[in-house]
Amino acid sequence: MKKLAVLTSGGDAPGMNAAIRAIVRSGLHFGIEVYGVYNGYKGLVEDDIHKLTRSSVTRIISRGGTILGSARYPEFKEKKTRIKAVENLRSRGINNLITIGGDGTFRGARDLHELGVNAIGIPATIDNDIASTDYSIGFFTALDTAVESIDKLRDTSFSHQRCSVVEVMGRHCGDLALYAGIACGSEFIITPETGFDRERTIAEVHASFKRQKRHAIVVITENMTDVSKLAKDIEEATKHETRATVLGHVQRGGTPQAYDRVLATEMAEHAVYLLHVDKAHRIVVMRNREITDLSIEDALAMKKETPTKRYGLVGRMRN
Ligand code: F6P
Repeated sequence: MKKLAVLTSGGDAPGMNAAIRAIVRSGLHFGIEVYGVYNGYKGLVEDDIHKLTRSSVTRIISRGGTILGSARYPEFKEKKTRIKAVENLRSRGINNLITIGGDGTFRGARDLHELGVNAIGIPATIDNDIASTDYSIGFFTALDTAVESIDKLRDTSFSHQRCSVVEVMGRHCGDLALYAGIACGSEFIITPETGFDRERTIAEVHASFKRQKRHAIVVITENMTDVSKLAKDIEEATKHETRATVLGHVQRGGTPQAYDRVLATEMAEHAVYLLHVDKAHRIVVMRNREITDLSIEDALAMKKETPTKRYGLVGRMRN
């Protein structure tokens, strides 16, 4: 009997559970035995591998996080660690592995493939920073969370005639900030793709208040600047009270919204099908609204197209 294992790795993302569920159910459909690896690559090395049944994944489609747990595990870069992982799989007669996560997770899958494991990757990260896929599982739920929070900040910002500087996640990718900023009608969106010019940002916020705007929202990707300091500088220059809010890890949690569940289910079914027909070393992706797959090498070599290009926002802030 064919056997496959599934793990989730890196930062968790809403919808990972929907993917795990679909892997188990599709696996059973094709007569494949499915095993869950707990806590990502760490669990693979520590032999934390357990059989999953139909009932193991009952009622998880709507749950945030990942029932398998996740971990960041830099030790997996060492070959001897990976050999241990492969031994653990082999001792159970498992030769197929589906990894759910981001590019770091896929690099782990590629390295395992080199050791003879049939590996498949499914993209899941709230950052949407994976070049090979239009959207990753979890992005839209995180976006909804960010939008809901920024809408609330706008209410209080408007009442008090303030400026709100809102830092959203994304690591080094501006998609969350860009989409959230557009969806909230925010005045300024600053992302790694637009670049950050402190003086210009302050001057533009100042100019907008001078045009009798009652309030301003600046949405900015994390890791670009100290947002408390930016808020202080804006307040000093504009004489309008300014507050900084870091949305942080709330963006990673919560019930996955419907589209993330659908995307996760479709991608997971595709991944299991690939293993069923003995295809491996692939990343399942969504490109031009179709679920398809690419070789791991090709997927990892791709450069992300900045959505700012599509929106004509490169090099300037929205106002
Ligand atoms: O990759 C998802 C993400 O939430 C990023 O947006 C963020 O930079 C990072 O993970 C935070 O990582 P950790 O939870 O390990 O602090």
